Amino acid sequence: MEVQYGVRAVSRGNHRVRCIVCGDVNRELAVDFRCTRCGELLEVEFPAWALGAVPEPAELRALWRERRTSNQPLDASGVWRFREVLPALDDWSHAITLREGNTPLYDLPRCARSAGVERLQAKHQGMNPTGSFKDTGMTCAISFARQNNYKWVACASTGNTSASMAAYAARGSMRSLVIIPDGKIAWGKLSQSLDYGALTCQLRTDFDGCVRVLNDIIRRYPIYLLNSVNPYRLEGQKTAAIELLEQLDWRVPDHVIVPGGNLGNNSALGKAFLEMKQLGVVDAIPKVSVIQAEGANPLYRTIHEKGGRELVSVEAETLATAIRIGNPASWRKSLRVLEATGGRVEQVSEAEIAVAKAEVGADGVGCEPASAVTLAGLKKLVKCGFVKPTESVVLILTGHVLKDPEYTIKFHRGDLSVPRMADHEFHAMTERQRKAPVVLDANADAVLRALEAEERQDA
Ligand code: F0G
Repeated sequence: MEVQYGVRAVSRGNHRVRCIVCGDVNRELAVDFRCTRCGELLEVEFPAWALGAVPEPAELRALWRERRTSNQPLDASGVWRFREVLPALDDWSHAITLREGNTPLYDLPRCARSAGVERLQAKHQGMNPTGSFKDTGMTCAISFARQNNYKWVACASTGNTSASMAAYAARGSMRSLVIIPDGKIAWGKLSQSLDYGALTCQLRTDFDGCVRVLNDIIRRYPIYLLNSVNPYRLEGQKTAAIELLEQLDWRVPDHVIVPGGNLGNNSALGKAFLEMKQLGVVDAIPKVSVIQAEGANPLYRTIHEKGGRELVSVEAETLATAIRIGNPASWRKSLRVLEATGGRVEQVSEAEIAVAKAEVGADGVGCEPASAVTLAGLKKLVKCGFVKPTESVVLILTGHVLKDPEYTIKFHRGDLSVPRMADHEFHAMTERQRKAPVVLDANADAVLRALEAEERQDA
């Protein structure tokens, strides 16, 4: 089929989309969501804000909080309850929602000690309906897909976007096409997309190769792209930052630390912090820092080797498969957020990620490997003096601990091998964090002996 699928009108409503590089207001949206003039990424903006046509900050804060007691689906969603600062649907009742958002903010006392800060908190976006932060962006973008009468939606993914998209497509009675790299998807994520009924294609390539194939597909078939180049995804993801500020009673933390993969999430959170300041909802912005795995560090290298002028693509390799991305789409947006908020970019090793993940687990919270880069990165940012021990820090945990059980079990059993480190060295380094299961005969004496041995170890 060689039909070229072209552009469609931007939804009439409270917003428009503007190119982040040439500044052109696109009156029509291309199927790949890139600027029709220069090919760069677009972002949503709200022209009425500049005219002051938005509720007073105190009114907004009260309205958003009040909705938490409502049972209306739109209010019960931790995304749509912030609809005054989101792109408006033609009909609000058409929102496809799984009651996403409203995720907990936890104290991490042990992790705080290990990182060398007085207090550390984590906003756990893994507590969303499909177990990752992707749900907040998905509810928004897929609702626009349905508004535009699409039957099919698609994404290339390292596993979480696809799980989320498949669930929301099913809820909205739409068909979904998942394009994932063969063999590099955590089991939890793959099983979700199957159960939610997606057409799941495992391609013999990596994530970046999947993106290339999908870009071809969307030009040849009427299918709505749900990767984070879609600016409506980032609008939904913004709400995690607003909700975080609300949970802190509008006291702005000094630092927010985010994992970096395709670099949509830190861009979305940064946009929200800047917008909340612009609207007067808060009077400051946190420094938003991005942490990458050493083996998948294009943003880190872009800044350190090219001063942020051009993207350094890498051949990505990391056991944190969610962020195994070498050619991130939103690198320019991400750079803008680093600059506007004064954040840093840091990279961490596989061993540092593994230790940090077990530490988040030991605080009774848990997360998937890609989320643990935040704690590993924080330790480095404290050591170099960028984060002061008395400053307030919030980690964004992006995925649930059950997403990648294979990694966790291998780690605790001592079966995990990490790149660029000898096994014996890695095992010695992680001895304190590992808790292997104990296989015993079926009698109380054997179990009590194990318990006593553990007591002696702790003493
Ligand atoms: N953490 C998790 C658990 C992720 O799944 C991802 C991205 C990231 C962090 C990085 O976020 O891409 O916005 O910088 N996962 C994507 C996916 C790419 O397909 O699920 P980002």
